[in-house]
Amino acid sequence: MDKKITDQLLKAADEAREHCYAPYSNYRVGCAVLLEDGSIVTGVNIENAAYGVVLCAERSAMASVISNGRGKTVKALAVVTNASPPGSPCGMCRQFLSEFVSKDFPIVLGNGQEVVFSTMGELLPFAFDMAVPH
Ligand code: THU
Repeated sequence: MDKKITDQLLKAADEAREHCYAPYSNYRVGCAVLLEDGSIVTGVNIENAAYGVVLCAERSAMASVISNGRGKTVKALAVVTNASPPGSPCGMCRQFLSEFVSKDFPIVLGNGQEVVFSTMGELLPFAFDMAVPH
């Protein structure tokens, strides 16, 4: 992916972290999804007093994309935390994302200093798929 676009996506994910609701873990995750028209949709982690109810940033961002009818236009996704090495999507988010993107879909992880480039297929080989047309 183009460096300028990568930087733009990482910046959007980082800026989204301002909106995280993470009073329990204090672990702030921002996610940004690039669409084919160049627009960016963001998401953040949203925690709950009942800890298991937490919504991760990646599912939050992708749910917004799908809810707005843009699911077929996704080009790349970035996740930003302040963890080192950069935090990567949890297992549930990997399965969630794999429903909507191809194996070569770029997933970029950052923390302001380090950047890790990966793909959906690398993060979740042998994803569960019922092979229904959609
Ligand atoms: N979290 C995410 O937002 N994405 C992930 O892929 C893993 C974890 C959030 C959930 C919770 O608010 C915090 O990070 C600590 O687990």
